[in-house]
Amino acid sequence: MPESSSQPERRHLLSIGDLDRGDVERILETARALDGVEGKLPTLAGRLVITLFYESSTRTSASFELAAKRLSADTLPIRSAGSSVDKGESLKDTVLTLAAYEPAAIVVRHPQVGSAQLVAKHLVTADSGATVVNAGDGTHQHPTQALLDLYAMEQALGRLEGLHVAIVGDVLHSRVARSLVQALGLVGASVVLVGPPALVPRGLAERSMEISAIESADVVYVLRMQRERMLAGANYVPSLREYTARWGITPERLRPGQKVMHPGPINRGVELDGRVADSADSLVVEQVRAGLVVRMAVLHDLLAQGVPAGEIAGVA
Ligand code: CP
Repeated sequence: MPESSSQPERRHLLSIGDLDRGDVERILETARALDGVEGKLPTLAGRLVITLFYESSTRTSASFELAAKRLSADTLPIRSAGSSVDKGESLKDTVLTLAAYEPAAIVVRHPQVGSAQLVAKHLVTADSGATVVNAGDGTHQHPTQALLDLYAMEQALGRLEGLHVAIVGDVLHSRVARSLVQALGLVGASVVLVGPPALVPRGLAERSMEISAIESADVVYVLRMQRERMLAGANYVPSLREYTARWGITPERLRPGQKVMHPGPINRGVELDGRVADSADSLVVEQVRAGLVVRMAVLHDLLAQGVPAGEIAGVA
């Protein structure tokens, strides 16, 4: 989205709401073109991608860094733990500091809703043209997770239009669910949200408290109980044991061929039975693989506009 002032036009990916169906299809097409390409591409040679993580991450931080390296960018990973954030530095001062290194992009994960938007605002103050990619802001959005999920679904099932997806578990605290519901809507898929009433908010999509609602789904998308975001003393479920008994995804609750997804990290034996996680119908590893090519595609889309994906991948 363009910014005002004398800045060059910059684009950010802060939310799935920044995209329309054409944007999603273009990013997925770019990811397909990049999939299987061996070695590095020169796309972002001489440009800097900073990954700035204020929250724990394995998949998102690793895949963004690897994606940037595969596109020949210089990378600068910053974790808040061990940085000057520990000494009380504000988000604004950290961003103003990092802007001095003239990054092409800052990929940010932060526990506060709206933090990626705030980074974009601070970059304007710093007179920086850097692009911001939201790698998860609190319970709000995780747009590249939704894009990689679409990619993994399309690869496994051959289509997105008309798919029916059941998202099961702690929707209330899930930026993944909020992003995915929007993204599935853009591509013509339908969604049912399944779980305990206190963890499935109204107004996002069709909802059900009954685990039997997963029966008709092509994909069962399982969410972790995000205990780190739950209010102390609040009783969202009577107990984790009861949650698992009523809503845990076990082999007995699935049809043969029904695909199972999880954004990770998995709490095996809580929301997802280990036998399901390791089964042939689990797309969990495919999601991780998709994360790399989709994040390459997103960086390409934001930073190397106008270069056809097939051309950069050398497959045109
Ligand atoms: N899905 C996801 O965001 O995983 P990480 O927290 O490991 O990045």
